[in-house]
Amino acid sequence: MRVEDFRTVTWRDGRPVILDQSRLPHEESYLVLEDVEQVAEAIGTLRVRGAPAIGIAAAYGAALAAFLSGGDRQAVLDACDLLASTRPTAVNLFWALQRSRALALDEGIGAEKLAARLLQEAEAIAAEQDAADRRMGELGAELLPSSCRIITHCNAGGLATLSFGTALGVVKAAHSRGKVELVWVDETRPLLQGARLTAWELERAGIPYKVICDSMAASVLARGMADAAITGADRVAANGDTANKIGTYPLAVLAARHGVPFYVAAPLSTLDLTLENGSAIPIEERSPDEVRAWGGVAATPPGAPAWNPAFDVTPAELITAIITEVGVARPPYGESLPRLAGKVPQGSS
Ligand code: MRU
Repeated sequence: MRVEDFRTVTWRDGRPVILDQSRLPHEESYLVLEDVEQVAEAIGTLRVRGAPAIGIAAAYGAALAAFLSGGDRQAVLDACDLLASTRPTAVNLFWALQRSRALALDEGIGAEKLAARLLQEAEAIAAEQDAADRRMGELGAELLPSSCRIITHCNAGGLATLSFGTALGVVKAAHSRGKVELVWVDETRPLLQGARLTAWELERAGIPYKVICDSMAASVLARGMADAAITGADRVAANGDTANKIGTYPLAVLAARHGVPFYVAAPLSTLDLTLENGSAIPIEERSPDEVRAWGGVAATPPGAPAWNPAFDVTPAELITAIITEVGVARPPYGESLPRLAGKVPQGSS
């Protein structure tokens, strides 16, 4: 059953079109991106966001550069550099751009064919992500008990991928099997991806949920009101240390403290096995203004000193399992992740 009815990025009339997530949940509006600068702006300002979705958007951005320049290789490489400079943590961005760069550097592809080939690659990246989401959903749903109450952080739904989602894909798959009693949605300050986006998605999918302030997660877990925690990931190091939205690490600590399994759902494109552990993952720092205010309303005295790291790293020892599209990795991740990374996703040739 398909419960989602949106797509984060589409190619229409020679331009990428995104569902503008900065306007959700109040307005469902679509934005046509006219040039690579607009694609970069959309990624940087989180109009399109979530690790896989920004990789997909960037791949369409590289195709756009080729169309606008008549297949100029250097223009495509420059576009890739610009797009790569938008957000440092999600490795999917660099993984997708690497695929675009490789095509731009392939002299076997004539200039007249380059744009079409890059577009084909972007469509392939999007389709592969969708297939991975659905496979993770099936594998993850099996891990959850019946009448499950799940707590999640940020948005790792279809809004963060193409249309189904990673962590929320697992929730959707479990719900379609009648296994989900309730989803606790951390609001996810400072930008409220949980309250705005996860709630929007669950509402549309008809899945029961309750939004809580981030500080309430401890009470949910201490009172035995959640049976599992599940989040997405922006980058998973070789030892299983996982970067995800700021506030994921405290949720994992709480889950461990209360004996609740903590699952991460992440496609193979989110693994970065070149990094030994999480200390090497670059953590994006965003404007302190995002902490000082919400929706134009100040939450602090004007100019109050503030700090805004956008991601934290959950140590592998707190993660019960990592769900990928080719299987579920268990500790020790240093052994299980490379094994899974060598597998070919089902359905691929
Ligand atoms: O800053 P964001 O909204 O892009 O952060 C997104 C997250 O942290 C998601 O949990 C992560 O990218 C996984 S998305 C499937």
